[in-house]
Amino acid sequence: MLQLKFRLSFHNTLKAHTQVRSFEIKKYPIIEVNNLKTWFPIKRGVLAGTVGYIRAVDITGLYINRGETLGLVGESGCGKTTFGRTLLGLEKPRTGEILFYGKNILELSRRELRELRKKMQIIFQDPLSSLNPRMNILDIVTEGLSEFGKIEGTREDHAKGLMNEVGLDDDAIYRYPHEFSGGQRQRINIARAIALRPDFIICDEPVSALDVSVQAQVINLLMDLRESYNLSYLFISHDLSVVSAISNRVAVMYLGRIVESGLTGNVIKNPMHPYTKALINAVPEPGLYSGEHKKEKIILKGEMPSPSAPPSGCMFHTRCPEVMEICSKQEPKETRSGMHQVCCHLY
Ligand SMILES: Nc1ncnc2c1ncn2[C@@H]1O[C@H](COP(=O)(O)OP(=O)(O)OP(=O)(O)O)[C@@H](O)[C@H]1O
Ligand SMILES: [Mg+2]
Repeated sequence: MLQLKFRLSFHNTLKAHTQVRSFEIKKYPIIEVNNLKTWFPIKRGVLAGTVGYIRAVDITGLYINRGETLGLVGESGCGKTTFGRTLLGLEKPRTGEILFYGKNILELSRRELRELRKKMQIIFQDPLSSLNPRMNILDIVTEGLSEFGKIEGTREDHAKGLMNEVGLDDDAIYRYPHEFSGGQRQRINIARAIALRPDFIICDEPVSALDVSVQAQVINLLMDLRESYNLSYLFISHDLSVVSAISNRVAVMYLGRIVESGLTGNVIKNPMHPYTKALINAVPEPGLYSGEHKKEKIILKGEMPSPSAPPSGCMFHTRCPEVMEICSKQEPKETRSGMHQVCCHLY
């Protein structure tokens, strides 16, 4: 069952700079992926070989411009985290290329990869489990600095500066993770992520575990930091409301593939793919996005198929309310209209 909620109250608490800027097509890509496939082998027993693959990610092309936020939405298990982990080098793709500032990171040496790690960071969903309970905040936020060396002034000064940037008091650096609220812990995670002054941050469901009022504060903080440091974000969430608040563009993922992408306003107000329409229609509260699509009520049938045995043709055909004969036979090609792309036989 889809768990998407569009919340007016949430959007009302966001700052004015939520008004997303328009970006031109692939103007200054900080990151770009081409034909990226991340598959996990399925093994039966210790001696048996690989009997199949979980095709977690299969992306033909996707890019994020410098200073841009790309929202990635889709149901649980569709491959969002695996995609983020692949970009960070935590999962090895089967094929494809990942260009960071135009350089394929899959061909970098270990030393070059280490340098790159400074520029790419990740913020996870669960703020508590991603912080070591035995380390105080000073050690947590300066851990990367110690590893990569080079800071001006003392570690304490640097950590206090980071606390101020994320809206926490100086003395927070002498405390431990369990002494903070969920929202404060996520601020600490953000402080750690920006400590090395990265250019690109993968935010993997960064506010999903937080209370709605706190969600808006954390989103506001991420937007402030984006402005201050011209950061680029890959913002992963199953909540279209949150994604639309912060993203310049949105990509919709189904079974590891991008089925639709475009400027946030276009995708939300004028969704083309039946899956995107269904995601938006699953929203109980009316009002926030009052595009034409609201007139038709689409309910998604059944569960998402297994990524180890994806359906033939269009992967969405088994659940699609607008399914046609061709859909089970032939994979749809991408159709492009300006900055709006969709993979569907309807177009
Ligand atoms: N290390 C792994 N080994 C095998 N399969 C994996 C591994 N990691 C993820 N998968 C599988 O890959 C698919 C995509 O998982 P992923 O965690 O990327 O989804 P997600 O979109 O992030 O879901 P959620 O919204 O629940 O976080 C799932 O079918 C999952 O079971
Ligand atoms: Mg995930």
